[in-house]
This record gives sequence, C-alpha cells and structure tokens, in this order.
Amino acid sequence: MALRLALLLFFPVAVTAEKWAVIAAGSSGFWNYRHQADSCHSYQLMLKSGVPADNIILMMQDDVANASENPFKGQLYNKPGNDSPDVYKGCKVDYRGSKVTAKLFMDVLTGNAASAQGKVLKSTDKDTVFVNFVDHGGVGLVAFPNGPVLHVKELSQTLKTMQSQKMFKQLVFYMEACESGSMFPDLKGDGKILAVTASNAKESSWGTYCGDEAVVKGKSIGSCLGDLFSVNWMQDDDLGKYSSETFRSQIKKVTKLTNKSHVCSFGDQSFVDEAIGDVESSWLAEEETSSPNAVDARDIYVSQAYWAWMNAPADQKDAAWQTFSAVVASREKDNQLFQTIASKACADVNKLNCQESLLSDQGDLEDMDCHYALVHTFHASCPASESHHSTGGWNGYNMKFSQVLANLCNNQAMLGKKTEELESLVRDSCGASALVV
Ligand SMILES: *[C@@H]1O[C@H](CO)[C@@H](O)[C@H](O)[C@H]1NC(C)=O
Ligand SMILES: *[C@@H]1O[C@H](CO)[C@@H](O)[C@H](O)[C@H]1NC(C)=O
Repeated sequence: MALRLALLLFFPVAVTAEKWAVIAAGSSGFWNYRHQADSCHSYQLMLKSGVPADNIILMMQDDVANASENPFKGQLYNKPGNDSPDVYKGCKVDYRGSKVTAKLFMDVLTGNAASAQGKVLKSTDKDTVFVNFVDHGGVGLVAFPNGPVLHVKELSQTLKTMQSQKMFKQLVFYMEACESGSMFPDLKGDGKILAVTASNAKESSWGTYCGDEAVVKGKSIGSCLGDLFSVNWMQDDDLGKYSSETFRSQIKKVTKLTNKSHVCSFGDQSFVDEAIGDVESSWLAEEETSSPNAVDARDIYVSQAYWAWMNAPADQKDAAWQTFSAVVASREKDNQLFQTIASKACADVNKLNCQESLLSDQGDLEDMDCHYALVHTFHASCPASESHHSTGGWNGYNMKFSQVLANLCNNQAMLGKKTEELESLVRDSCGASALVV
C-alpha cells in the first residue's frame, strides 16, 4: 500500500482525456448481414479516428462472416462495388455468440466487469464515449441476438448509472433501429448525452444495398449490405472531414440522405457544434454512394426471400419457395396473434372500435412499468420464429406490435384490466397461437 502510494505521488497519473467506443449489433443470421457489416465498419472508423483498440468494445453474434451462405468467407462488405473494402478484416470482436445479450450491453456500459466477465467501459469524467447500436427494434425496445430485448426503461437507467458514476464528459449515442426515436425519452438538455436515432418513435428504419444492388466484386451477396442511416453517417465520416465537420452539419446531412425515415436527435445539444473528431471520426476519403432503393426494415425478410426465389437456380427454386412461404406464414401468424390479443382485451368492453384503436393508435409510452412487464412476458411466453433466428417471442417483424402493448397499457382504465391481467392475456393468446403451429 505504502509503496503504491509513494509511486503514485512520484508518478502522478496522467489525466488526459481518452476516447472510448462501445459498438453492438443486436441480431444474428445471414439475413441480418447488414447489422454486423455496419458494426465492423463502425469499428474500423473508431480505430482510424484514434480511439485506441483497447478502448473499443464490440459485441456481435459473429455468425455472418463464416456463414455457409456468405459468398466471401471470412469477409464482410458494407457497400457494393469492385473496390468495396472488407470491413471484417481487423474487426476485433470482444463478445460473440450466446454471450451477446441486453444484460451484457448494460454491464459493459456501466463498467461492471465482474458481471460481464470481459472488457468493459472504464471511462472517466474527462473522457468522450461513443455508443453505436444497430438492429431491429420497436416502440420502447431494441433486440439482442440472445435473451430478452433491451427495454427503454433499462436503457434510461443504464445511462443514469453512467452519469452518476461520472463515466463521461460527453456521450454520443447513435442508434439504428425501427422506432428508435422512442428509446431516449428522458435525456436532459444539460446531461452531456446526445442521442441520434435512425427514425422517430413511430416508424421503421430502412435497410440499404439490398437485392440487385448487393453486388460486391461481381457476386451477389443475397442480403442487404447496410442500413440507410448507418451507411449515411459512416460514409459521411469516411469523407475524412472529421476535424472540421460538426455534429450539427453531420446530422443535417445524414438527415437529408436518410430520407425514408426521420433522423432525430435527443438530449444535450450543447456540443453539436464541436468537431465530430472530438468524439468519433473518420478515415479514408471515399466517394459517397447512397442507395435510392432502400427497403423498410420490417419487410426485409420477405423481400430477401422473394429476391432469393426469383434468383434461385432451377434446382433450388423449390427450396427457395418453401423459405419464402415460411417467412410469409410466420408474418401472418404474428398479425393474427396481435389481432387475438386485441380482441381478447376488448371482449368484455363496451366501446366502439376498441379493437381497431388498440391495433392502430400511435400514442406515446405512458406507463413504462406496464409496458416493460408485457414486453418481457411476450418474450418469455410467445413462440420464437425460426425464420427470424429469434430466441423468444419477439422478432424483426413483430416488434412493430410493441405499440399495441403500449396501447393496452395506456388504456388500462378503459379496458378495466390491471397489468397482471394484461400479462395473463398475452400469455394465454401466445399459448393458443403456439398450438396452431
Ligand atoms: C471463421 O473461420 C475461420 C477459418 O476457418 C476461423 O479461423 C475463424 O475462427 C472462424 N470465425 C468464427 C467467428 O467462427
Ligand atoms: C432520397 O435520397 C436518395 C439518395 O440518397 C435520392 O436518390 C432520392 O431521390 C431521394 N428521394 C427523395 C424522395 O428525396
């Protein structure tokens, strides 16, 4: 102890600001190629912009680069073309496979090394932290490839913990997911957190470089290569103007390019006029190429399966058709399930259009605790979709119905049902639908 203290006095610890980055892809499976490609591209950008490799934490399933469907084994591309760089090369994954959960994401962000059992954020109040999440989402939730979804309530708490542990001077959070605008409801104007989301709270985000456009070095990849918002901010960063460009100008440009959804920013705007390079920044000067044929993230499975069938060689047509039919059937089952939930909720309610309004209202999340309970019940009790690689009830398509659960919670008085009753209603509806399979 005494020696250590003496050494500390002799060699005072340097208090220079450091840069940190946490990057997470929330999906698995080859049809979600784009999320892992976005994440590795983001990793490369952090590295090239001077975030030390030791300070970057990347979590992703890491099942895509080596997938049997990948025409370029051990490589990932985030944009088409003959000179598209392999973003998987040098992309160091810290957590892969079944370890990648919402819980791990929270542990890493809050520096809980004991629970994460690996690399975690060790930033201080002198440091800048960049967080990047890409995946599927819905109102008040985003997905992880294993275990339950991350609920907005948990994310808010995580950010508050980071704040109280003084883990950043500035934190910038870029989130790509459907309805990601619903994930940052209580950021303060002076909280030193700036969140930028791919979409507002009521709409999908979009995949890009899909179908016929997903061609690299003359080969079709068979999956979308990127997400529109991610590709737009990263290609903007690729232009290499990070020392002069500010968040304000990047957000403005990216908002214009991401013209299928509304890019939103939340929280502390006080540093939007600082150069992007102070938090995250960039590398090579590349040409900007944005895809005009973006696909709504909710429709990507259907459109990819259809594209695969259209382009399948004769001997694989039947198998491709079976896959396409299974994707359509799984989607129809999700539609039915939420019809059932709404009809059960309204069964003993004497109100005109009760069911329709539960299915179509777009009210804000009012009761976080109720929504959190229903979201977790849905994960635990509803059937997983094989074609979506989901490990619980939620999948990339049905997350759009997270709004229906919000509507149930917002209308508890009208429905005359407590949270526990709504939970059993969800559980019963899923039990019934599981039997139909
Ligand atoms: C991918 O395959 C290569 C070559 O077989 C292997 O060295 C590597 O560990 C694999 N990576 C993953 C994530 O499975
Ligand atoms: C959206 O942006 C793309 C390029 O990013 C452009 O080609 C397309 O025309 C734009 N669409 C609209 C409706 O502005």
